[in-house]
Amino acid sequence: MPDPKPVHTDRRRAQAFGAVASDYDRHRPKYPAALIARITSGRNLHVLDVGAGTGISSAQLTDAGARVLAIEPDDRMADICVSKGIAVERSLFEEWDPAGRRYDAVVFGQSFHWVQPGPALAKIAQLLVEGGRLVLMWNRVFPVRPSHADLAEVYVDYPTAAPSTPIDPAAEAAVIAEIESHGFAVERVEFDEDLHYTSTEWLGMVSTHSNHLILEASQRDQLMTRLAAFIGPAGVAARNSALALFCTKDGAG
Ligand SMILES: C[S@@+](CC[C@H](N)C(=O)[O-])C[C@H]1O[C@@H](n2cnc3c(N)ncnc32)[C@H](O)[C@@H]1O
Repeated sequence: MPDPKPVHTDRRRAQAFGAVASDYDRHRPKYPAALIARITSGRNLHVLDVGAGTGISSAQLTDAGARVLAIEPDDRMADICVSKGIAVERSLFEEWDPAGRRYDAVVFGQSFHWVQPGPALAKIAQLLVEGGRLVLMWNRVFPVRPSHADLAEVYVDYPTAAPSTPIDPAAEAAVIAEIESHGFAVERVEFDEDLHYTSTEWLGMVSTHSNHLILEASQRDQLMTRLAAFIGPAGVAARNSALALFCTKDGAG
């Protein structure tokens, strides 16, 4: 259940993650190994990870051989990232000063929809070395058993937290069109993996989604109790259909 919208202007939602930084780090899924390998190609690339959060993707990229600089505006998220030995500069991307530095890859994991795409894309174009790539990626974990429709029954009383449809083609097409309008060629790749969550793990993950974080605490507790009862001991069989957009300037690279 990814955050669906291509752009969020709601800063309250963007800043909600820090309050649950350690839960976020514990419960959010890693990116599929094949996706990380596709970014680094096993090479010692210089990667900028924007909106790096607690460093989930930064750590995976580092383990795959990249030299990573993380940009993260929220101190509570950034502190966890630093604790993993990752270099972090604490800033909104819009305000971050690259000071002439350039990168083989600029990566947004689950974070591109938090920046204004137009100004961000103009800035990214200046940051990439020739042949460098912008990579936007989203884990898109959706339930298979119980299904998305089954779980939607529980959310009837909590409409603002209701999970979006697993794949929103209109939102995706809008992001791709915006990127192409800035002179990037876009390659769209999906990386699928089957996952299983215990009820506790599933609740842990969804409780870190921004639309759940901004629920009033008593409502959130009530929703979690009802979800736990609905899911039961069998847990949730889920599929991660991670989406990655590999974007090259003028089709180079
Ligand atoms: C959903 S989290 C993704 C974190 C991490 N990339 C991951 O894959 O787990 C979004 C992150 O973007 C950060 N963020 C929000 N607005 C931002 C901005 N304008 N510039 C840079 N980061 C931003 C938030 O603080 C948050 O840590």
